[in-house]
Amino acid sequence: MDSRSFQPHHCVRRWPEGAVVYQIYPRSFQDSNGDGIGDLIGIRQRLNYLEALGVSAIWISPFYPSPMVDFGYDVSDYCNVDPIFGTLDDFRMLLAEVQGRGMRLIIDFVPNHTSVEHEWFKVSASSLDNEYADWYIWKDPHPDSSPEKPSPPNNWLDALTGRSAWEWNTVRKQYYLHSFHKAQPDLNWKNREVRRAMHDAMRFWLDLGVDGFRIDAVYWLAKDPSFRDDPLNPEYVEGIHSFYDRLQHTNSSGWPALYAYLAEMAEILADDAYRKRQPFMITEAYPDQHNPVEAYMAFYEGVNPEVAAPFNFEGLSLPWQAASWRDFLRSFHDALADQDPCCLASYAFGNHDKPRIASRFGDTIARSAAVMQLTLPGMICMYYGEELGMTNGGIPPHKVRDPGAIGEPGTIGRDPMRTPMQWTTETFTGFSTTAPWLPVTATSSTRNVQVESGDEKSFLSLYTHLIKLRKTYPCLSYGTITVLDTQYSDILAYLRTFEDRSCLVVINFGPKEISCDFPFTLDQELASSISVMPASNPANAVVVLAPYESKVFVVSPK
Ligand code: NOJ
Ligand code: CA
Repeated sequence: MDSRSFQPHHCVRRWPEGAVVYQIYPRSFQDSNGDGIGDLIGIRQRLNYLEALGVSAIWISPFYPSPMVDFGYDVSDYCNVDPIFGTLDDFRMLLAEVQGRGMRLIIDFVPNHTSVEHEWFKVSASSLDNEYADWYIWKDPHPDSSPEKPSPPNNWLDALTGRSAWEWNTVRKQYYLHSFHKAQPDLNWKNREVRRAMHDAMRFWLDLGVDGFRIDAVYWLAKDPSFRDDPLNPEYVEGIHSFYDRLQHTNSSGWPALYAYLAEMAEILADDAYRKRQPFMITEAYPDQHNPVEAYMAFYEGVNPEVAAPFNFEGLSLPWQAASWRDFLRSFHDALADQDPCCLASYAFGNHDKPRIASRFGDTIARSAAVMQLTLPGMICMYYGEELGMTNGGIPPHKVRDPGAIGEPGTIGRDPMRTPMQWTTETFTGFSTTAPWLPVTATSSTRNVQVESGDEKSFLSLYTHLIKLRKTYPCLSYGTITVLDTQYSDILAYLRTFEDRSCLVVINFGPKEISCDFPFTLDQELASSISVMPASNPANAVVVLAPYESKVFVVSPK
């Protein structure tokens, strides 16, 4: 149970090191049967593309049976496939084909909550005394409320809508906790039976041969055992922040027991039955922005780093400024270097919950962000469509589907970043033969695989080139990182070094052209965020960067 008892002196090379993981939101990647919703057969039809792009692994967001209130993050059966997405046999075939092509496949695992439609919840809610009575978090009304007008036991909020996280059940005459939508009741992780059932579900997929898991919403696995109110958030600004941000969630989430729960899950992956295949899990936890490094380190210290790493989400939240990145990379990688040698960074710059990179930064910076992400240490996780420079889609009010946006009117929610993958110039972008579940984005006629694969300067060419470099140069996949001191405030420069070879990455965060020199010989230019493939090798030691440009070089000592 205690992962700290596992202290290797060195670490065997594992597949996630240097890996490029491609996240697929299955509803939106490829529809194979003309119902406007992506599915597993559709993913299988597109494996040539993923192989050519060069990704090492695929992570598929949930495809479990689900009433789809939160599009699959409300699971009603952990050991099956929703008919919308196909069958277990479709999954088996997909897995075999992915692995047959030398790629890995990890799946989403949603431990914090089930759907209200899960059998466990249906039984649990049916009486005060049943086999599953204690599998969810049930509470009596607040002691100050009257039986005629019960009120919730505390002020905790639901992260999707910002309303009370408690829902009244007229049969049990109790509230149940839902840290997300009311259709997603929280499981009671203190209950050993619950943990055992979830471990069995993990084993089910490991036995089928999956290469690991992305673990959803782990901060909510452990809350204050005395259920005290969450404190008010002094930084909350009405109209700017979401309802949910009114409070700090220090009692409703993030209690230390969560590391023990994750350590138990990690133990399954490290079990002799599976460990040879090196299954790996990446945990989803957005750290407190005041102290992200400490928050990340808690995961490395608490959960066996041979088989687990927390997502590093700074690419989603740090301002695009050289100083912010310089400080973060130094403090994070210094702290990581002090940890167990198995600890692996895991950088995500986009996902199905956050605005797309090209919409946050504009194209020029988005291309530089690609150079940065694909030259950072550890595993990197890219979201489908990033490689095309896909932008947030415009969703007309009558087409809004996200329960978060529906629950908090006026917010854009997460639909804009879940629009169909853009394959071709056809009306439905080659995603489907019929109108898709969400409209295609306005940029899809020019930003798609068909057009971009014929353009050597496109986003797609840039990503393909960078992924190839990452695979070709061991310093980019396995090397250490050293952030360099430079006299240029808008420049971030770092060296990636493995054995006796180094690559230099230089990023211009400013709007002016900058020429900078470094105490290295520039042996070869490998990539530019603007021109993709460099026109020629550098003739001297000066790096010239256009506004917001970044470049990668092979360097040697002068
Ligand atoms: C995080 C997931 O990424 C998000 O899409 C989901 O709504 C919540 N967890 C709840 O499962
Ligand atoms: Ca379909």
